[in-house]
Amino acid sequence: TSKFHSLFSATLSNSLDHLPRKKWWGYDVHQWEGFWYLPSNLEAAIAARSHFEACSDDVVLASSMKTGTTWLKALIPSIMNLCGDDDNDPLIQNHPNALIPSFDVQLYKQNPPPDLSTMPFPRLFRTHMPYHVLPESIKSSDCKIVYITRNPKDTFVSLWHFMNTTRTPEQGPFPMLEAFESFCNGVHAYGPFHDHVLGYWKESLKRSQKILFLKYEEMKKEPRAQLKRLASFLERPFVKEEDVDKVLWRCSLDRLKNLEVNKNGVDPWVGMPHSSYFRLGNVGYWNNYFTTKMNERLDQITRIKLEGSGLDL
Ligand code: A3P
Repeated sequence: TSKFHSLFSATLSNSLDHLPRKKWWGYDVHQWEGFWYLPSNLEAAIAARSHFEACSDDVVLASSMKTGTTWLKALIPSIMNLCGDDDNDPLIQNHPNALIPSFDVQLYKQNPPPDLSTMPFPRLFRTHMPYHVLPESIKSSDCKIVYITRNPKDTFVSLWHFMNTTRTPEQGPFPMLEAFESFCNGVHAYGPFHDHVLGYWKESLKRSQKILFLKYEEMKKEPRAQLKRLASFLERPFVKEEDVDKVLWRCSLDRLKNLEVNKNGVDPWVGMPHSSYFRLGNVGYWNNYFTTKMNERLDQITRIKLEGSGLDL
């Protein structure tokens, strides 16, 4: 078994035993309210839904896995705390995961969960929970949600690489076709991918002041425009043009990936190496892995799922 096995496969308490169960990358995943979860994330998500109380100036970063969340984990705190010179940039000492705590991979894994009322305001959180199971107070309060998504093919390839980090050299990479089959069937942590995206997309159409819907590809294509859009949404519009470039530089993949804190160490909550969150950051890299058949299959799923939604991925 892999060295990370215990972190991913904490057993569910008996009360959740009745949920449908399947295997994903050799790990148990359980289906709850239409989505698949690793056991410990599921328990935390359920606890978060019951206990979290949102405040109107909270910001919640939401996403599926491997859609560029780490970029936003760096950008959002940088926008919210723009003051400070480069030497005091918290990203120098902290992996982006440490700057925005997660409901489902961190805070609500603890029993009892920490007292969040003592956190400095505005509080920043992140989650992979689908929209419909978010704590009610997040939906009903004025707090803001930033959602980031990405082309499903690049997301899948990124996920395959990330999950391979959990495997020993003896195990070697997980068979790509098996992983692809699972992804297409929606059986993966926080899957089905398209349903996750659609939940936030539909809500963002109804409440554009509440949910900002970002696409990784657009961020890569026009980072300045997208960053300004994000800052305005967070009610922290840039005053100086040079600050736009400063934040983009501070949060750039090249810079973050080469910081000592991100080259070394392991995320204490997930057990993944800090470095595994930074890879190539390319758009269209799926092309190096997909056969024609894989391409057609995922295109067809995307077409069917997104039909009539007005969303293009
Ligand atoms: P690749 O695996 O395609 O390189 P997440 O943060 O949601 O886990 O997504 C990880 C993906 O975002 C990885 O994509 C990673 O390289 C990319 N990424 C991480 N930090 C980034 C940054 N600062 N700017 C752009 N992309 C970044």
